[in-house]
Amino acid sequence: MQRTFAIIKPDAVKKGVSGQILARIEGAGFTVRGMRMIHMSKGEAEGFYHVHSARPFFGGLTDFMSSGPCVVLCLEAPDAIKQWRDLMGATDPAKAEAGTMRKDFGASIDNNATHGSDAPETAAFELGYFFRGMEL
Ligand code: CMP
Repeated sequence: MQRTFAIIKPDAVKKGVSGQILARIEGAGFTVRGMRMIHMSKGEAEGFYHVHSARPFFGGLTDFMSSGPCVVLCLEAPDAIKQWRDLMGATDPAKAEAGTMRKDFGASIDNNATHGSDAPETAAFELGYFFRGMEL
């Protein structure tokens, strides 16, 4: 078993598709081990995405992620990191395969509905950023 960190981003919450995304997550066989709705501050979003701080999209990304509530999740499954990334699809919804979260619910690379950790070390940092050990 492996755990990964996921976000249902502010665009998806605003569109009212959080429930559909959760249903697909559970339908794909993930166990939800942690779940909370939060509204990140700009500073909290900057801390979360610090690895992208030198990228030109950092300001827009952290504005967007602090623009409204999102749902943070701890998902568990065999090979959870890859499974969730496959279910999300490509970062840019225009390049994502049919049936993926980003294809079906994302509008652009900036408003792409969901986030997922890309490696075990990232998952450990991201889970620890939003969940205390005793919650999981
Ligand atoms: P996410 O998986 O949350 O990780 C960083 C986010 O930055 C990414 O999804 C996109 O929404 C956003 N982003 C905007 N522009 C780019 C880009 N050129 N490359 C990668 N991510 C980008």
